Amino acid sequence: MIIAQISDLHVAAEDDFMRKFVDANLKLERAVEYLNGLSRRPDVVLATGDLTDHGRPAEYGLLAEILEELHIPLFCIPGNHDERESFRAAFGQSWPYLPSEGPIQYVVDDFPVRLVAVDTLRRDHHDGDLDQTRLAWLDQTLAGRPDTPTVVFLHHPPFTTGIWWMDCIGLAGARDLEIIVRRHPQVHRVLAGHLHRPIVTNWGSTVVSTAPSTTHQTRCDLDPEHGPVIAAEPPMLELHWWTGDQFVSHTTVFEEASPRVEIAAVVSDWESAKARIKQGPPFAKGGLLG
Ligand SMILES: [Fe+2]
Ligand SMILES: [Fe+2]
Repeated sequence: MIIAQISDLHVAAEDDFMRKFVDANLKLERAVEYLNGLSRRPDVVLATGDLTDHGRPAEYGLLAEILEELHIPLFCIPGNHDERESFRAAFGQSWPYLPSEGPIQYVVDDFPVRLVAVDTLRRDHHDGDLDQTRLAWLDQTLAGRPDTPTVVFLHHPPFTTGIWWMDCIGLAGARDLEIIVRRHPQVHRVLAGHLHRPIVTNWGSTVVSTAPSTTHQTRCDLDPEHGPVIAAEPPMLELHWWTGDQFVSHTTVFEEASPRVEIAAVVSDWESAKARIKQGPPFAKGGLLG
């Protein structure tokens, strides 16, 4: 099973300030084309929040137009740039998995890996939180199927990243979340967004990662004296391959900046080289692969 993760889509109206810097809507269209075009298509796509830039109804309309083109089952959660009610009003009818009121938390039991959505949105704030009601729902939900491999996905990551200005708008309730997830070892992975960078850490009894944005990235800068910088890095997404007992995650640039090089084109006897690669190691230097 392959889970594609897109995050921080930040879809906005045409006159939005950020779209003059980078066209988030166009980048999302490219991401959709990329995912549809993969010869081994992901089984499911998770969008981990900041679906729009301001949570406005018109933005959700634009988002719906772009996502309509995606030919893979999609599950979304809100981020701090979203508004629950506008989101629900736009998608509640067409996406029956969305709860009709309260936090946007739900379970998907259609795949070999169980998908559990957690809503970290704190109304009118950029930082996130998880209150006792949302945490109790998660604990109870995870207790329901202790033997099924599970992914929990949410917007705000529950760890300190070292990018100070993003950590300032982190997640309250992260420690309580860790205690709960630790109680349920079937949680093989926690997938977050918000950081606009691919970051990974061991956390509690599992692994947590943040996905890069489909539009713009934050600069990889751990110096606490430096100010916030949006990096001129390409749009990216993640492919999480579930092998049956572990997740192997790939971060990929979906809009290529330079021409692709096929290995076959630079190896003189490709058929022999391919057969040799399939035999496995050891690979002595100077052989068919140079
Ligand atoms: Fe974001
Ligand atoms: Fe965010």
